[in-house]
Amino acid sequence: MAPPSHSSSAAERDCASDTDCAFGHDLARALAERPRRISPKYFYDVQGSQLFDRICELPEYYPTRTELGILTQRAGEIAAQIGPRAEIVEFGAGSLVKVRLLLDALQSPQRYLPIDISGEHLEAAADALRADYPGLAVQPIVADYTRPFALPPRLEGAGRRVGFFPGSTLGNFDPDEALAFLQQAARLLRGGGLLLGVDLVKRPALLHAAYNDAQGVTAAFNLNLLARANAELGTDFDLDGFDHAAFYNAPLRRIEMHLVSRRAQAVTLHGQRHAIEEGEAIHTESSHKFTIEGLRALAVRAGFGIGPVWTDPDRLFSVHWLPAAQ
Ligand code: TRP
Repeated sequence: MAPPSHSSSAAERDCASDTDCAFGHDLARALAERPRRISPKYFYDVQGSQLFDRICELPEYYPTRTELGILTQRAGEIAAQIGPRAEIVEFGAGSLVKVRLLLDALQSPQRYLPIDISGEHLEAAADALRADYPGLAVQPIVADYTRPFALPPRLEGAGRRVGFFPGSTLGNFDPDEALAFLQQAARLLRGGGLLLGVDLVKRPALLHAAYNDAQGVTAAFNLNLLARANAELGTDFDLDGFDHAAFYNAPLRRIEMHLVSRRAQAVTLHGQRHAIEEGEAIHTESSHKFTIEGLRALAVRAGFGIGPVWTDPDRLFSVHWLPAAQ
């Protein structure tokens, strides 16, 4: 993901928040460049987060339930790798369902540090966990984890510092961004490790179905980016003027999501008119698929060792334990 950048012209504009400035700036750049592409992090406003939760429940969207199955069935083995009194650092405030599975299996976890760009998400996540895990220190960190940031000092008597990055979110980065993320994680987690969930390469038909659900929820999620721009940035995107397109790019081993213009049209952002021809696209997200060997090679390049990997019987999804050297 491209880090949010704050140009002076964006700073001079009347932005409700830094995110608005970054979104407006990045969208202006996306509309001007060829091919047009925007960071998927802007999907997740309130509406987008709700649509995403619905995607996770879809019959065609196998990753969420498959990963939950692996975490449930292998919780004991995973907890044995992690050891007692661990400190869990989750990248993204994430699904509390997933981290609870982990916390329930661990021996006296000490502290939970969810990191998220949205403070709102974090507070909700933190409150919900505090109520149910009285012995756990819950300390949210507002940060963009794709950029450099620091963690608080370790607690007295704490066990390993363990990163948790489920949901194949790693696959939403480009390969160089994924490497940079893992390098930072290896530094932050020294002496501990990373529990990483990534989606596996598989038959394109299964992948295609997962990102083109019959109910159209993924399409609504993709189009919500334009609705968000209209609401927050005052653009005049015609939502009926774009189609959701998701397909498997086999050479690059990734699903690509695009918004494709159904006709010649124009959109105005910050007083500037951008023409979009019929059939032209805005690339909104990639979801890379991994082989177990490929993921391990990437992890080693980033400074991790190799630990056990757990998969489901159909080998749809994988959960890796990656130890970080001291
Ligand atoms: N990281 C997951 C994936 O790539 C979830 C996800 C992110 C997603 N954005 C999405 C799923 C858009 C469907 C559509 O699969």
